[in-house]
Amino acid sequence: MNNNKIYTLAIESSCDDTSAAIVKDGVIYSNVTASQDVHMAYGGVVPELASRAHQQNIIPVVDQAMKKAGVSAKDLDAVAFTRGPGLLGSLMVGTSFAKGFALSQDIPMIEVNHLQAHILAHFIDDLKQSYDHPGFPFLALLVSGGNSQIIVVEDHLQMRVIGQTIDDAAGEAFDKCAKVMGLTYPGGPLIDRNAKEGDPHAFVFSRPKIQGLDYSFSGLKTSFLYFIRDHIKENPNFIKENMNDLCASLQYTIVDILMNKVKRAVRETGIKEIAIAGGVSANSGLQNALKEAALKHHWKVFIPQLGYSLDNGAMVAITGYFKYLKKEFVDQDTAPFARMVIE
Ligand code: KG4
Repeated sequence: MNNNKIYTLAIESSCDDTSAAIVKDGVIYSNVTASQDVHMAYGGVVPELASRAHQQNIIPVVDQAMKKAGVSAKDLDAVAFTRGPGLLGSLMVGTSFAKGFALSQDIPMIEVNHLQAHILAHFIDDLKQSYDHPGFPFLALLVSGGNSQIIVVEDHLQMRVIGQTIDDAAGEAFDKCAKVMGLTYPGGPLIDRNAKEGDPHAFVFSRPKIQGLDYSFSGLKTSFLYFIRDHIKENPNFIKENMNDLCASLQYTIVDILMNKVKRAVRETGIKEIAIAGGVSANSGLQNALKEAALKHHWKVFIPQLGYSLDNGAMVAITGYFKYLKKEFVDQDTAPFARMVIE
């Protein structure tokens, strides 16, 4: 430790972003991400290509994160890394790097659950400013390409899942429907952009009827596919002529499905502080729906800062910091865990 200050290096490599961050006593000093454009041509992330790109990017990204923070390897007290969930080959790159780094510097390693990290991004303060953080307990709506969950967050490291998707995730629904319309991967941000120019009530898509607080998005994806296929038979230019309305109506439906279960979770738990996390939390329709509900139902809502909503090292760093305080370290025999969950 340096003058009782805790410096942690954090590595995120769960999917297609290689990211490193330095956190000092809970404040993010740097957060550097290298994204991988190589997947665009394939309509989705190609695992083999992702691992290779992580291998190429990891050293320069870590180097830049340390330079930006003004620290060198010998200043660091711990290295945190994303252990899972994610693509195994991608996780292996970050995990192996962390092991080598920890051995060479003789510092402890901290494993981080990527899902927990997305939620704890709400506790990030950085050199620009400190932000308003949720109070415990709060509800987290975690919506990404691989997850749609409602979680009761009791404490930084104590979380309980009360609802989750039984099939596709919300981000998958965005991306797969975007693909049907010929949009490039990832389609979520493109649907969001087009939706701003369209009518959310132009088309009506069916909602799933799922018990309790669970979600389902596979039915919506299939009905969207059939809807488009049927209309194209009559008018080959159907997508082109209706792109904005299709995007707006689809986004409206996905957001409505998400919000209905959040409202139910608030009713059932009595918790009125809600934070959204994961890539889909960047969606403007979801953010607006949440803000509207907050006004109407007197909720307090938290939307992640720009730069901390998509996969990033800073969220791993802040999680690593909380675990450092509890001395939750792992050994060199720790292996990546592709299907890690929030327990
Ligand atoms: O959390 P994330 O960066 O990565 C993983 O899931 O691993 O989330 C990526 C997902 C993708 O499905 C992407 O389409 C979606 O987040 N996404 C959005 C928006 N920005 C990202 N979906 C809808 N609207 C957005 N603005």
